[in-house]
Amino acid sequence: TKLTKLVSSVFRKELFQSKVAIVSGGATGIGKGITQELLYLGCNVMIASRKEERLESSCKELKEWLKEAKQDNQVEYLKCNIRNEDDVKNLISGTLKTFGKIDYLVNNSGGQFLSKAENISLKGWNAVIETNLTGTFLMCREAYIQWMRDNGGAIVNIIADMWKGFPLMSHTGAARSAVDNLTKTLSLEWVHSGVRINSVAPGSSIYSETAAANYGNVKIFDQVKSTVPMHRLGTVEEVAAAVCFLLSPAAAFITGESIQVDGGQTLYITPNYEVPEHSSCPAYTWQKDLDTVGEVKDIPAVTHTKSKL
Ligand code: ADE
Repeated sequence: TKLTKLVSSVFRKELFQSKVAIVSGGATGIGKGITQELLYLGCNVMIASRKEERLESSCKELKEWLKEAKQDNQVEYLKCNIRNEDDVKNLISGTLKTFGKIDYLVNNSGGQFLSKAENISLKGWNAVIETNLTGTFLMCREAYIQWMRDNGGAIVNIIADMWKGFPLMSHTGAARSAVDNLTKTLSLEWVHSGVRINSVAPGSSIYSETAAANYGNVKIFDQVKSTVPMHRLGTVEEVAAAVCFLLSPAAAFITGESIQVDGGQTLYITPNYEVPEHSSCPAYTWQKDLDTVGEVKDIPAVTHTKSKL
């Protein structure tokens, strides 16, 4: 995907000057947006993901952009499969070697596929749990052990709109919900080290070319639009802004919290999954005649002439 150049930010230009961040999945989609905003604000960023080609080309593109903008902060990349403990250890130590510290960790890497739960194989299930939940755990743990335990820091975990269940995404729904809980637990266990950890939950309305390519069609986004009270899709920039806020001193008193970036979608009554026509859930009743179950009977109005209290 071509770089949409970031030329301004709602945040102060030098907000993250001389800071260091790791952004997993930072070469594409939402992660690339987060990386760009951090870079624009003066941060040094290590991007990491499994696919070296994408990392290399995004990193090159971002370096050119920094040079054009005459900024002297840096972006580098390290290949890392977050499911692999040694890879994660290596990413954290490699970042410390390159930049000398880690102020921020953004766990944005993730992956899933649309499927009914009944069709998900054990292998597929495990892969999604390992990437989204275990990978995030390993990243947090290693960043803490190798740096943040002694030096503090801020972590943002990117989750999803799984608050009311996640039909056709049971694996990632379960994993992201677990990450939300992990975020709260770690916020308590690590607060004495000066570590803040929060999550950002982008709605399914956040559009990126990477997401569209992943799901194989753009129509999904058209369908989503009508479920959003704001009647539009969300942008990668709107997710990046929430992440930057949580990393910044503006959120100094915020930990264990999650921010939904969804245009109000989760509050809206329109379901994003239509239950097929069925009569598969018979009522439990003492009545013999099941057909009348649920019928509203005339109930005589009760008028009290005296208070019973
Ligand atoms: N993006 C998707 N899956 C990943 C993984 N296992 N490691 C790093 N980035 C990823």
